[in-house]
Amino acid sequence: MDLKSTFCGLPLENPFLLASAPPTASIDMIDRAFKAGWAGVVTKTIKPDYMDIEDAKPRFHALKEGKRVIGFENFELVSKQNLQYWEEGIKELREKWPSKLIVVSIMGDSNEKSWGDLAVWAEKTGAQALELNFSCPHGMPEKGVGAAIGQNKNITKLITEWVTKSVSIPVIVKLTPNVTSVVEIAEAAKEGGADALAAINTVESLSGVDLKTLTPYPMVQGFSTLGGYSGPAVKPIGLRVISQLARGIDLPLSAMGGVSNWSDAMEYISLGANHVQVCTEVMVSGFGIVKKMIAGTESYLKEMGFNSLDDLRGVAVKKLTTHESLNKKADLVPGIDLEACTGCGKCVVACRDGGYQAISLVGRKVSIEESSCDGCALCTFVCPESALFFPVKELPA
Ligand SMILES: Cc1cc2nc3c(=O)[nH]c(=O)nc-3n(C[C@H](O)[C@H](O)[C@H](O)COP(=O)(O)O)c2cc1C
Repeated sequence: MDLKSTFCGLPLENPFLLASAPPTASIDMIDRAFKAGWAGVVTKTIKPDYMDIEDAKPRFHALKEGKRVIGFENFELVSKQNLQYWEEGIKELREKWPSKLIVVSIMGDSNEKSWGDLAVWAEKTGAQALELNFSCPHGMPEKGVGAAIGQNKNITKLITEWVTKSVSIPVIVKLTPNVTSVVEIAEAAKEGGADALAAINTVESLSGVDLKTLTPYPMVQGFSTLGGYSGPAVKPIGLRVISQLARGIDLPLSAMGGVSNWSDAMEYISLGANHVQVCTEVMVSGFGIVKKMIAGTESYLKEMGFNSLDDLRGVAVKKLTTHESLNKKADLVPGIDLEACTGCGKCVVACRDGGYQAISLVGRKVSIEESSCDGCALCTFVCPESALFFPVKELPA
């Protein structure tokens, strides 16, 4: 199965890249990631040496369901390595891994010289593309950069122009979901000359409060600050943003936000993404997950009769329409698998107090009064046995 694709003319051996984040914070980590099978990386965001940053400790907090991390908050800043470190390391990596893609993520200070010089420096390291971090929601906006750029269309356009006129390699603008209209910001990036878009950076968040000390998490010596949310919990936001960009802007898309396995990646590609980037799942489970992602993708494409990722790309986004034009004529009730039903009554309670009072238990088995059922699907999500299900049949035309 052919998983190859191109992105801004750059070849990719498979659709799995590491996002700009802790897993790409050192040359050794990137080297090990390439060995594991990742097709490319976006380096941890690199800043000019004169810009001082200091990370808080601790800076992570997680929302868990059982043992699984489903949402991850961080307020980590950018790379702590200096330019010389990256320059030497990227050159080595390019020589050792000529078939891999190395994108350098940069964040300048709020002036033209800073962004221009950093972009020129990055191109000289041998980076095949640049990603502009206009989207970090914490810490950096206080300094006038990060999401402070990506939340303003004029500044987005201006800084994209500063960079695109300084370099000849492709420039990717990384967008924040923390805006009213992501398409408006993407348009500004395109006007500034961006060759592609990456989304999403983390979602501004406050993941919890310690009720004993009454301090928000993560607690730093009795205080906290807002952070960025990532992992499975943000996938619906990432999918929404990618679908809006795919429909609204004619630029290649590098998608991320909650990709934990091959099927998450296929969802993004079906909505128009060229490939995906991964951060949180690698932080939790390690570089090795890419092997299963590649195998799962190959099996899925084969099962679907697709010859390549091109056959999948954008198919699902064509099925998005307005609420107005959805077919509301069909009278649908959920299908029932009576053998699977254990008579627990969860659907009865949900339908009684959150739905249409259409469900009862008859002889300890679920029964639906079709004339009362409104087809909302609530019961299918509360049933622990999947004994109630949608869709039951194709909607009539
Ligand atoms: C601890 C941490 C540090 C991050 N650092 C950066 C960064 O330096 N530059 C950047 O553009 N994005 C950064 N991100 C955002 C990720 O690249 C990615 O956009 C986001 O985490 C969503 O993907 P995920 O759900 O796979 O984690 C960071 C994310 C995390 C969790």
